[in-house]
Amino acid sequence: MPTKSVWPKLVGPALLIGLPLVAGIAVTTAKARLKQEAVAQALTGGNPALAPPIFRRYGCGGCHTIAGIPGADGKVGGPLAGLSEQVYIGGVVNNNSDNLVVWIVSPQRFSANSAMPATGVKESEARHLAAYLYAH
Ligand code: HEC
Repeated sequence: MPTKSVWPKLVGPALLIGLPLVAGIAVTTAKARLKQEAVAQALTGGNPALAPPIFRRYGCGGCHTIAGIPGADGKVGGPLAGLSEQVYIGGVVNNNSDNLVVWIVSPQRFSANSAMPATGVKESEARHLAAYLYAH
């Protein structure tokens, strides 16, 4: 039995391989996020970075859990994560950026009995919200 452990000798090589690997994954993830944000921006004409205060102003987070928005943990409506992968909005209309903006401004345009109220959000603001929702 060797008296000294071999583990200290492995730490150097492990760091040598592990650190660039972790850094590489972080860069790839960051690039993917930037790309998704750029696509969301192009689709909606909105800017995801402007969305958080608008979500707060119109109380979206009181009814929805919204990824990345502190305090947005409502359970009245479903969570608004991964919306870009959904086929329908509110289960009634095709999921595309124009319909999403209309839905956010006035859900009753598509779904007369929807429990989601028209919050008073303006179309220009709804574009920023739609951009955020497609980016997250
Ligand atoms: C009073 C509660 C309430 C508020 C406030 C509210 N919503 Fe909703 N929302 C709902 C409910 C309930 C649904 C599900 C309605 C339906 O399917 O008809 C919904 C559905 C949605 C959907 C469709 C989700 C899906 O999975 O298809 C989106 C997008 C959405 N809301 C965004 C927002 C945004 C953005 C705001 C803020 C401007 C907001 N909501 C404010 C209750 C609310």
